[in-house]
Amino acid sequence: MKIAILGTGYVGLVTGTCFSEIGHTVTCHDSDETKIDILQSGDLPIYEPHLHDLVRKNRDAGRLFFTKILEDAVEPSEVIFICVGTPPLEDGDVDLTSVEMVSREIARVSHSYKLVVEKSTVPVQTGSWVEKTIKLYGPKGIEFDVASNPEFLREGSAVEDFLHPDRIVIGVQNHRTEEILRELYAPITGRTFNCPIHQDCRRDEGAVPFIVTSISSAELIKHASNSFLATKISFINAVANICERTGANIKDVSYGIGLDRRIGKSFLEAGIGFGGFCFPKDLQAFIRISEKCGYDFRLLKEVERVNHERISQVVEKVKSGLWILREKTIGVLGLAFKPNTDDIRFAPALEIIKRLMKEGASIRAYDPKAMERARTELPEVLYCQDPYEAVRNADAMLVCTEWNEFKELNFERIKGLMRRPFLLDGRNLYDRDTMLRLGFEYIGIGR
Ligand code: UDX
Repeated sequence: MKIAILGTGYVGLVTGTCFSEIGHTVTCHDSDETKIDILQSGDLPIYEPHLHDLVRKNRDAGRLFFTKILEDAVEPSEVIFICVGTPPLEDGDVDLTSVEMVSREIARVSHSYKLVVEKSTVPVQTGSWVEKTIKLYGPKGIEFDVASNPEFLREGSAVEDFLHPDRIVIGVQNHRTEEILRELYAPITGRTFNCPIHQDCRRDEGAVPFIVTSISSAELIKHASNSFLATKISFINAVANICERTGANIKDVSYGIGLDRRIGKSFLEAGIGFGGFCFPKDLQAFIRISEKCGYDFRLLKEVERVNHERISQVVEKVKSGLWILREKTIGVLGLAFKPNTDDIRFAPALEIIKRLMKEGASIRAYDPKAMERARTELPEVLYCQDPYEAVRNADAMLVCTEWNEFKELNFERIKGLMRRPFLLDGRNLYDRDTMLRLGFEYIGIGR
């Protein structure tokens, strides 16, 4: 099938590339011409595991194209995915300007039937606005369908999530749309594609659930999923607070809770709080959407509050060890909001660093992928070439992101490099007894 992807950001690029990988012909457009220049030159504007190889492979195979001209993407395609940004506004609302603009553009340049699919995370009922807009601005006599197909792609494992999803959700208004989207996803739901990332691909696990709902339900599934996951994280972080006051260990408690299949093991890691461009923004948006519907979603407001509190709690923990921060040096390991990405948007590490610097601390930092981006936002930080440089002469070491390479550090060496071996493990990566034995003052989260 021929597909257009409008908006070649994180979601659009992964979606377009993966659709081309399973055999479709995909043209990606972005209004940011620099981004298209980068992609046309064979580079990527973001870091995401597997993505570079797949972009190269599918471009070479003549299935994946990038263009600055929207018409060139839309004209030959039957299915158009809207993947433009939906950033938060000051009041928590979602800015849908790009969705509206791109809908008008689709209408303007279409000369044949198009199925327009919203992939960007949008408030419930955006689908009907997209439909109204396209019908209003589109040429008479041309048919359009609108659908919602929310993405559930985690940064750092987005390619894997696309190719091996837990479910595919589509919100449609008629049978024709459902059939087109079923055909589009058939290689994935039937697990018939050649998996480019696993040798032992999970083909024998049966078909992927393909959920067909109304557009509004599909839109809500997305916001409710992210809000629920954020709730799980704030819940376990709140329980970690109780563990700290009672001497219990959050790792044991999470394990004990998570084995109950009704609860599930994932998203029960206590830490410095959730960040990234999705959870904080989607949570805020869902609170706002509920407000507009006349429902005060206080539960989610509390989820947000617990998460904000994490930052001050980490700063207090640092101060509990160092007392005064002025003229102290802190080595921070991890800047990205999670491992395997260079994304620092709403990363708790950056907030913590800002607070520590405000109190007079100097920061040395290391992250395997996110330093270039962080440098623009925090130029005062001293960026180091490895974790050991980051802790040189430091009064404290603070781990903010659970990159794999931080799990196997040489702590004898680290202790020798630090001015004072004070370790704040914001992601509970290390064994407390081992660290104490090595001579560190160790503070974890919830234990
Ligand atoms: C999220 C959703 O998971 C994905 O389905 C959606 O479409 C996009 O948003 P992402 O933002 O990439 O994905 O990251 P995710 O893996 O969900 O983690 C979000 C944040 O929660 C990170 O800051 C992570 O460190 C934190 N987290 C996650 C915890 O603090 N504890 C956990 O147990 C899990």
